[in-house]
Amino acid sequence: MKFRRFHDCSLDERLLYTCFLLLMGIGYLMAVTYIFMNDAGRDGKPGLSVEDITYNYYGNRSGTRLETAIRGPMAGFIDTESRHEIVAWLKSGAAENDYETTIRPILTQRCIGCHSPASGMKIPDLTNYAGVSKVANVDTGQSLFTLVKLSHIHLFGIGLILFGVGYIFCLAVLPAWLKTTLILTPFVAVFVDIAAWFLTKWDPLYAWTVMIAGAMMGLALAVQILVSLYQIWFLKPPPA
Ligand code: HEC
Repeated sequence: MKFRRFHDCSLDERLLYTCFLLLMGIGYLMAVTYIFMNDAGRDGKPGLSVEDITYNYYGNRSGTRLETAIRGPMAGFIDTESRHEIVAWLKSGAAENDYETTIRPILTQRCIGCHSPASGMKIPDLTNYAGVSKVANVDTGQSLFTLVKLSHIHLFGIGLILFGVGYIFCLAVLPAWLKTTLILTPFVAVFVDIAAWFLTKWDPLYAWTVMIAGAMMGLALAVQILVSLYQIWFLKPPPA
């Protein structure tokens, strides 16, 4: 039996596949950019490292969510001196009387534009001591609730992307073992990646697994997209 290949496809099919693959490719690049903007530098150093992943899922258990935030994603809103003041206050036990004199003025000036109920954003309320206390205790990373929420979105979303791209990639001409490997790898990698989010929450050692599985899935997806795009337009049918 003869399988269909890209050179058997009509022009409309080729255009449809090309548009879909390009869109998924760009979407994937955006996802990687987002990871770098959101997670890289959590540990205070540029670039995405295992420490950044550890901070995200396991937390910085020697610090607090507030400290992690002002060293990482919120660092741009605060100057070094104020940051030192807040860190010193946290290390000294985050007492209420010091809050009134030194911390409240800093937060009022720099943070409550966003961090107040009035802003309408669902982010920690930093307008009063009770709200600040909630982020002034030990940072254990993303909550289990957030991980469950993110996992179901990822599993559904990425599952459909991998199905669509993989379905098109089935029309490529490649050695059978290689094609099968490329089709299966990203599914296994996504599963391992997401399982490792939860494991990292328990033991930071698994941050490596998150990183390696994420890279494997990206690599396999990129190869599928590039090989398909190339063969859609440039692969000549074999001589009859
Ligand atoms: C321009 C709006 C804006 C400003 C200004 C801002 N933040 Fe945020 N902050 C956010 C948003 C949006 C989030 C939620 C998204 C995230 O976690 O990255 C957030 C999240 C946080 C969190 C929670 C992080 C976690 O562990 O979930 C803390 C703590 C925080 N900010 C502290 C601060 C402090 C302190 C300042 C002032 C120095 C500040 N923010 C200034 C928008 C802002």
